[in-house]
Amino acid sequence: MATFLDLETTIYAGEPEDHCFPVVDDNIAQGETSEAPNGSSKYRIKQSVEDSIDSVSSEKTEAGERTYAEFRKGKYPLPNDLKEQQRLNLQHELFRITLEGRMFLAPITNPSSALDVAAGTGVWAIEFANLFPSTQVLGTDLSAIQPKELPKNCHFELHDAEEDWNFPEKFDYIHGRALLSCFTDPAAVLKRAYDSLTPGGYLELHDGKFPFQYIGEPPKDSAMYKWNETVMAGAAKAGRPWTGTPNYKRWMEELGFEDVVEKLYYWPTSGWAKGEYYKALAAYWQVNLVGGLEGISMKVMTGLGWKEDDVRIFLEEVRKDVKDTSIHAYLQIHVVYGRKPS
Ligand SMILES: C[S@@+](CC[C@H](N)C(=O)[O-])C[C@H]1O[C@@H](n2cnc3c(N)ncnc32)[C@H](O)[C@@H]1O
Repeated sequence: MATFLDLETTIYAGEPEDHCFPVVDDNIAQGETSEAPNGSSKYRIKQSVEDSIDSVSSEKTEAGERTYAEFRKGKYPLPNDLKEQQRLNLQHELFRITLEGRMFLAPITNPSSALDVAAGTGVWAIEFANLFPSTQVLGTDLSAIQPKELPKNCHFELHDAEEDWNFPEKFDYIHGRALLSCFTDPAAVLKRAYDSLTPGGYLELHDGKFPFQYIGEPPKDSAMYKWNETVMAGAAKAGRPWTGTPNYKRWMEELGFEDVVEKLYYWPTSGWAKGEYYKALAAYWQVNLVGGLEGISMKVMTGLGWKEDDVRIFLEEVRKDVKDTSIHAYLQIHVVYGRKPS
């Protein structure tokens, strides 16, 4: 009877249900523009997420002045303001739906210490600390955008993951999520993680693989296709290419991690894919993208010489494509974990 994945009741253990590769839903009129089915899915959406969806989709704050990390200023191209924080919290739910409510897949039981690298708003680290009250959880980031009221076993520090990791303790578990746009040399960051783990400890990474992929021929004339090419060129020019994710498994194996597991998941951009699971993922991913496009794109595109107003005009076309159910695009998500030898 239980047909709802109630995300208030998080499932933390075991393997999530296997979902086959997304297939096109023939009941969706091809080419129809579909708004994200906010709340209409069988996947229950929390009130806090609905608020977050409203804020992320709102165009009101879009044109306002964005703020960026002051610490190591200029390194990270995405903003850190309230709109971006709401996007990250929404994205946290998107990752949770992806794994049917789970926050991690590594076979950890009760780590005594855990690190969340580049923790953003801290939403994952705080939930993890609540789940494991005897685990000391540290979250690091370039921005101090985490709440002040925290579980006793959770704290945050400003730290640049590309610099030395001189933490006083080693960690039993290190987690990193949505870091694809962060680092000049992601493999070097993974090496620091390896060195900072206790023997037998796990590193786990969750990230998207850019550019988008498509069922069938990529729509090369579309704004969406051009956007993917442009932001990737901008990120490469800025020295932080968005190409690391498919290499995580190999890099971890080369570093000496054992039993490295990689699982793939898929986020359709609109309701083109069949089934409640994919409709729910698309609902969140579409809001995340439509509301987040400007924050994600502005620095990397102006770095290529685009004028800000031209970026905004172009992104309007990309938003139309994101909602267009005849474009069968998806972001491939990689979840990778492995163990440091004992
Ligand atoms: C897309 S957000 C993901 C946040 C969080 N991991 C999550 O899944 O919600 C990327 C985060 O990485 C942080 N970041 C970027 N470069 C960093 C660096 N060199 N060291 C530490 N944090 C960094 C940013 O400030 C931002 O909060």
